[in-house]
Amino acid sequence: MAKHSQLLRNTLLIASGILLTLAVLIASETGNLRLREGYTQAIRAQQLQNDLGDLITELVNAEAGQRGFLLTGKDSYLDPYYKALPRIDELMARIRQHYADDPEGLRQFGEASQFVTRKLNEMALTLVYGKRDVDVALDMIRTDFGKQTMESARRGLEHLQERESGTITHNLESAEHDLQLSRYGIGLLTAINIALLITVGLGHARRMAMADAARVQLEEESARLDRKVRARTRQLSALAGHLQRVTEDEKTRLARELHDELGAILTAIKLDLHWVRMRIQGTHPEAHDKLTRVMQHADQAIQIKRQLIEDLRPTVLLNLGLREAIVQLVEDVGARNQWDTALDLPETLPRLSDNAAIALYRIVQESLTNASKYARAKQVSVGLACTTEQLTLTVRDNGQGLPPDFDAGSIAGHHGLLGMEQRVLALGGTMHVDSTPGRGVTICIEVPLTAAVLATEESLAQGADTQGADIA
Ligand SMILES: Nc1ncnc2c1ncn2[C@@H]1O[C@H](COP(=O)(O)OP(=O)(O)OP(=O)(O)O)[C@@H](O)[C@H]1O
Ligand SMILES: [Mg+2]
Repeated sequence: MAKHSQLLRNTLLIASGILLTLAVLIASETGNLRLREGYTQAIRAQQLQNDLGDLITELVNAEAGQRGFLLTGKDSYLDPYYKALPRIDELMARIRQHYADDPEGLRQFGEASQFVTRKLNEMALTLVYGKRDVDVALDMIRTDFGKQTMESARRGLEHLQERESGTITHNLESAEHDLQLSRYGIGLLTAINIALLITVGLGHARRMAMADAARVQLEEESARLDRKVRARTRQLSALAGHLQRVTEDEKTRLARELHDELGAILTAIKLDLHWVRMRIQGTHPEAHDKLTRVMQHADQAIQIKRQLIEDLRPTVLLNLGLREAIVQLVEDVGARNQWDTALDLPETLPRLSDNAAIALYRIVQESLTNASKYARAKQVSVGLACTTEQLTLTVRDNGQGLPPDFDAGSIAGHHGLLGMEQRVLALGGTMHVDSTPGRGVTICIEVPLTAAVLATEESLAQGADTQGADIA
């Protein structure tokens, strides 16, 4: 909700900023147009002022030429007069043109131009007279009439000049005013933009800070969950390891029971049967044969009991160690499955703890069972390599490989690989399953040779007691 109102406020802020900017821009553009118009008017007024000045000058030139001629009688004095006449016409036309849109100006110029025309007519008349009789013409000049006309024309034109000067001043003042306004507008625009930038920048910084805080919180939560998952995984691994140890202990106990109880009974039966068979030998041949068969059955039972004990607790592992147990296992399973087997085992292995030895043995056992169940392999190899730091076990088959859709995380009901991994984890090691479709499976296990993996002096002493005592 707060986020929504913040968004609305920001949008309103930006929208009003844009509107204000547009308004200031429009006002500034209008001011600029007015400014240009004002300068155009001022320039035109300046031109007009110049034309009016030129007209006065040309009139004075014409009058000077006229007087020079009348006083000296030399035609050369008439040159400025004749040059001024067309120029005066031209200037008058131009000035009239200027006032086309200004009725008041046109009226005032009309009045002044009447005096100009009158002056021109007077000058033309005196010259006509002057060419015939100079004195008459000079008398005409001596009257104040010509001077008054000239004065009136000059006054009218100078009045118009002042009027134009006023126009120039007025336009320049308005231009200055517009410039001032435009400056204020730009100042306002800059202020608005700076305020907007600051507001948006602050908002952005706040959002970034909030996002950062959320990210940190998320990371902390994720780290907490991660720790929890790790702790749970450790607990589960410990539990699985414990269960596996309990199972192995239970198997050992069962094997001992089978050996001590059932083994003793079966051996006693066999001995007694042997005794009876000796006694009736020759007297009861049929019973003798029957007893022989019963003794064979007893042998079979002893054999099955031995096999059971072997499966529960491989005696070869106890008696001869991991290396020999693996050799025997690979030979047995290989022969059963008609595999071409290869073994790569070091001559000697460090003495491993019972737990480690049984775990590695079971891993090889499960790998071979899997290979026989699923791989359809022709060749199977088992390798053991040992450094001072770690032990590496590799079981490889050249079968069809893991199914293409194999997902180690969702193999409900399949506990072989999981159990192997649990055993390895319990020993502090790692397990990698490598498979290429059609090219078999390789299981690689690395176990560090820690105190937990190596046999202790104590366990070695205990092992010496039990070794050689064939529980089968
Ligand atoms: N060597 C192998 N070659 C081909 N596929 C294999 C091999 N080893 C395992 N698999 C495949 O991996 C699956 C999982 O094996 P895993 O040993 O975990 O379970 P399982 O053998 O099916 O059941 P369990 O071992 O619990 O009796 C098997 O079902 C099989 O499809
Ligand atoms: Mg299996």
